[in-house]
Amino acid sequence: MEFFLDTADLAEIEHWQALGLVDGVTTNPALLGQGGMDPIRRIKDIAAVVGGPISVEVTLDDPAAMIEQAVKLNALGDNILIKIPADRKGFLCAKELKKKGIRVNVTLVFHASQAVPFIKLGSEYISLFVARVEDFGLDNIPMIAQARRIVDNMGSASKILAASIRNPKYLVEAIEAPADALTVPPSTWEKVYNNPMFFLGEREFMQSWCKLSPELRQEYESTCLKQGA
Ligand code: E4P
Repeated sequence: MEFFLDTADLAEIEHWQALGLVDGVTTNPALLGQGGMDPIRRIKDIAAVVGGPISVEVTLDDPAAMIEQAVKLNALGDNILIKIPADRKGFLCAKELKKKGIRVNVTLVFHASQAVPFIKLGSEYISLFVARVEDFGLDNIPMIAQARRIVDNMGSASKILAASIRNPKYLVEAIEAPADALTVPPSTWEKVYNNPMFFLGEREFMQSWCKLSPELRQEYESTCLKQGA
């Protein structure tokens, strides 16, 4: 299962890459626009440090212009995938990009039916948005398993990419579903590493531990040093 980082922030990418959690990166226009930096420069910088797939999205609306933009974006690095919106224009664009051998990630899928034409086409990644529908009281985790069955039933090689994973609950549910890949924002990994129950448990253990005499604690804690000596 591939884990992508959902960000255009190079410092975040380097941080989470060191922890083994970056098989690739996904960006979107909102992420690339953050901080007012040149988006082309940013994509090149990311491509210089990440070996896996880097998804960058087209921002134009007309299929011919989208294709032209996609070709230029794709040329920014050997591992650039093009994010294409999951609509009719996006489909026409994805079809042409397939002919050109350009890898595609279909984005903004909120219902499995949107993915069907792209699965039939054989688009490489299909990004299913999970948390975004929560704002409307919906739960899109079942859509991942459904899309998984659709891909298998259609005999397609498309990969299910669980996107919009805004919290640890969705992280584990998307893995369980299972998706083929997840794109996780740094904020979700921060929540994983900052579980309040963990800190509470750790504090309680250490408070009890500190009731032991300093000599006995020191003896216990120096055991590893003695063993290493
Ligand atoms: C997917 O590739 C998108 O960039 C991303 O997952 C969107 O997440 P959001 O709905 O939390 O903005």
